[in-house]
Amino acid sequence: MDKQSILEKQKKYLWPSYLLYYTEPLALDHGEGLYVWDVEGHRYLDFFGGILTTSVGHKNPKVTERAKAQIDKIIHTSTLYPHENVVNLAEKLAELAPGDLSMSFFTGSGTEADETAVMLAKAATGNQEVIALRHAYSGRSTLAMTLTGISAWRIGGTQIPGVKHALNPYCYRCPLRMSYPSCGVACAEDVEEVIKTTTSGRIAAFIAEPIQGVGGFITPPPEYFKIVADIAHHYGGLFIDDEVQTGFGRTGTYWFGIEHWGVEPDIMTMAKGIANGFPLSNTMTTPEIAETLTTQGLTISTFGGNPVSTAASLATIEVMEEEASPEHVAQVGALLRSGLEKLQEKYPLIGDVRGKGLMQGVEVVANRESKEPAPKAVNELFEATKARGMLIGKGGMYGNVIRIAPPLTATEDHIAEALDILDHAFADVQKRY
Ligand SMILES: Cc1ncc(COP(=O)(O)O)c(C=O)c1O
Repeated sequence: MDKQSILEKQKKYLWPSYLLYYTEPLALDHGEGLYVWDVEGHRYLDFFGGILTTSVGHKNPKVTERAKAQIDKIIHTSTLYPHENVVNLAEKLAELAPGDLSMSFFTGSGTEADETAVMLAKAATGNQEVIALRHAYSGRSTLAMTLTGISAWRIGGTQIPGVKHALNPYCYRCPLRMSYPSCGVACAEDVEEVIKTTTSGRIAAFIAEPIQGVGGFITPPPEYFKIVADIAHHYGGLFIDDEVQTGFGRTGTYWFGIEHWGVEPDIMTMAKGIANGFPLSNTMTTPEIAETLTTQGLTISTFGGNPVSTAASLATIEVMEEEASPEHVAQVGALLRSGLEKLQEKYPLIGDVRGKGLMQGVEVVANRESKEPAPKAVNELFEATKARGMLIGKGGMYGNVIRIAPPLTATEDHIAEALDILDHAFADVQKRY
């Protein structure tokens, strides 16, 4: 089908609330490795991976082959019947996950994984209240939108009671107008203040992303998570670590983002990169915590742990182990980071560069002194990179953060190609600021 027909049908039959990137939305046709092609045959270097999801590249032969083989056997079973792929994946994840996290509950999306985590935390603690962070993103159910800390993503007023938001560790725009390290990570103490002043004093959970994804790759100082996890425990709560974006080696060196800070979560959620684009998510916890839900009632997930998605996930993890390990991500991620920092020296539009591994954010500002966000410049950078054959992502409360997150199979050559395109795009756009 040609581009115009796709765009016309999109407009006629799909809700206008679909968020589509680019002035002229991009109708993709196929992909291979780090590249995707639109229906007109234009090729793009994919540095957003379908929102940090295509973790081992498009049309990865191993993933495709294993999914096809599973389709030929059985596509769907539901969580009512144990399946070989599901138990093998759970076993593999128990091996990769930090601490005592060895028990999985599979669902179909990050939203469901976070929902499941909160349900479990309430059951395990007997408490009801939950602390989330400002600028967080948890998904699109009513609870997930309530946990989210960005107004644009909280459609409908978000009415779940008992969710409170603490200050986030946003060093570039410190909510306390302090600077690290002299601040003593004062923002972490706000979690305690919020518990003491706005809850009953006993919480079910504190939920946070190791690096806030949709929030604009906001990366906390190293001490942060130890302090907040201790506070959560002190007030009877569990620490829910949302690894939907940061999981599966994305941040380099480790399989999961939280491991950078040596903190063991009580519950961990994952989705996106887990199966290279097949719908799958998981909520992991310890055997003791998992046990507490059994006395509370019944729970199923019709699509959870689908045999095809779990086959794809097992293959995805194998490919990561062979050619896109956390060490590889750390190495190419360091190249990407130093290249972006060089661009920051050249272009005043770049206020901040942050993140870890292949999860790098560039905060774009109209003025480095005032840090005035420049979302319009980001839109221009989107068009300029697209014109040069590269896809990037966007985030941040003010829509002024470029999110760069290629498949983990990215090589040094891909990084060099991306940096060259970004260099030219920034040179173009900077002229107007
Ligand atoms: C950290 C985080 N948690 C949860 C979600 C929700 O995941 P999904 O869109 O698969 O429901 C997202 C999605 O972007 C996310 O980034």
